[in-house]
Amino acid sequence: MGLPRVDVVLGLQWGDEGKGKVVDALAVEYPVVARFQGGPNAGHTLYHQGQKVVLHQIPAGIFHPNVLCFIGDGALIDPEVFAQEVKGLEALGLSLRERLALGRGVQLILPIHRWLEEVSPESARIGTTRRGIGPAYADRYARRGLPLAQLDNPNFPQQVKELTAYHARHFSDVPPPEIPEDFWVGIELLRSLPRVDTFSWIRQFDRILAEGSQGTLLDIFAGTYPYVTSSHTTIAGVLAGLSVPPQAIGTVWGVLKAYTTRVGSGPFPTEIHGPLAAWLQEKGGERGATTGRLRRCGWLDLVALRYAIALNGVSVLALTKADVLCGLPEVKVRIGGSDTHPTYKSFSGWLTLNDENFKEFVRFIEQEVRVPVGALSTGPNREDWKRYL
Ligand code: GDP
Ligand code: IMO
Ligand code: MG
Repeated sequence: MGLPRVDVVLGLQWGDEGKGKVVDALAVEYPVVARFQGGPNAGHTLYHQGQKVVLHQIPAGIFHPNVLCFIGDGALIDPEVFAQEVKGLEALGLSLRERLALGRGVQLILPIHRWLEEVSPESARIGTTRRGIGPAYADRYARRGLPLAQLDNPNFPQQVKELTAYHARHFSDVPPPEIPEDFWVGIELLRSLPRVDTFSWIRQFDRILAEGSQGTLLDIFAGTYPYVTSSHTTIAGVLAGLSVPPQAIGTVWGVLKAYTTRVGSGPFPTEIHGPLAAWLQEKGGERGATTGRLRRCGWLDLVALRYAIALNGVSVLALTKADVLCGLPEVKVRIGGSDTHPTYKSFSGWLTLNDENFKEFVRFIEQEVRVPVGALSTGPNREDWKRYL
């Protein structure tokens, strides 16, 4: 059994950096694209034949007919959302079932997990995506969660009912959810797909592209706790979620926007308020791909970026959405100071991404973080892409 070279795409900010677009652009070189953590809290947008597609659970390699898509053990699957997503992609004419494989250790999000988020004050305080992520990971770590391996257990329906009842009994004043028919439809779909041992399956291939979801600053350990998600969105998540050792890790692509966005609550040192924030939201289409919420917008933060790069061992950067800043007279970048009193360097704006001012902005980032920009995304479409490294 060999060991694949695993190249990785990670978000370096608070998610929505453009990982879906970057994975779609890189995927053609790989036999496998694999998600390793997170679940349908992710919303990865790409354009296929001019049509916008938002993927929540299916890896962003799915539009390349020769690419297999894998969901590794560190991830969660909501069977209802998954079935809808498969249906939506099939409606676009995609045949994908024979190109999907799932780790037997992937855990299920049940209706009760989504319901727990509705009644939990923490979820409201954090501003979660309400996809049941926190409660499902909590069950995983409390060792009462349901991995896909349990689909082969004749007692599986009973296990679902018991876990539902376990949680519901703590909330005697609110009636717990029924388990809808769509849940069982989703379960049947999952049963029909290959459910494999992640350790062995991964080792059949020579190259894997690992697709991160969320971003480094949302990592359960390394992020802005408690305003984080419940998984390892960082390089650590790749090893655990795909059952590979550190030697397997090849190129680590760090994806960053030329500015910063954040959905949900929590600290945001470079946040912009007022008309400029509204302009960025409008021009950058900064509305959550999963929840439709407006994303908070701010300047690029090199202090946070240096941290994310050091933490993940990022070897090359993919810079996205600099086109959104075209036309601004001034672009700022945080270079230091404290989180409450950040200090900025100011750049003259650019009208196109061929302007000298933009090149100076890129050079400055590269010098400051000592990692090259190896690819530039110049728009949302697949062909809006320049690869240098
Ligand atoms: P992800 O979660 O990291 O995959 O990112 P999202 O899909 O949530 O958000 C990124 C948004 O920016 C999507 O609407 C993309 O279509 C869009 N996008 C990605 N790259 C670029 C780019 O270089 N320029 C512009 N204007 N939009 C981009
Ligand atoms: P992608 O993969 C941006 C945020 C939520 C909330 C916090 C916790 O598209 O980049 P959760 O539902 O995970 O418990 O919510 O994390 N969040 C994201 N923000 N992009 C995402 O995914 C996110 N997934 C979760 O807004 O603040
Ligand atoms: Mg997103």
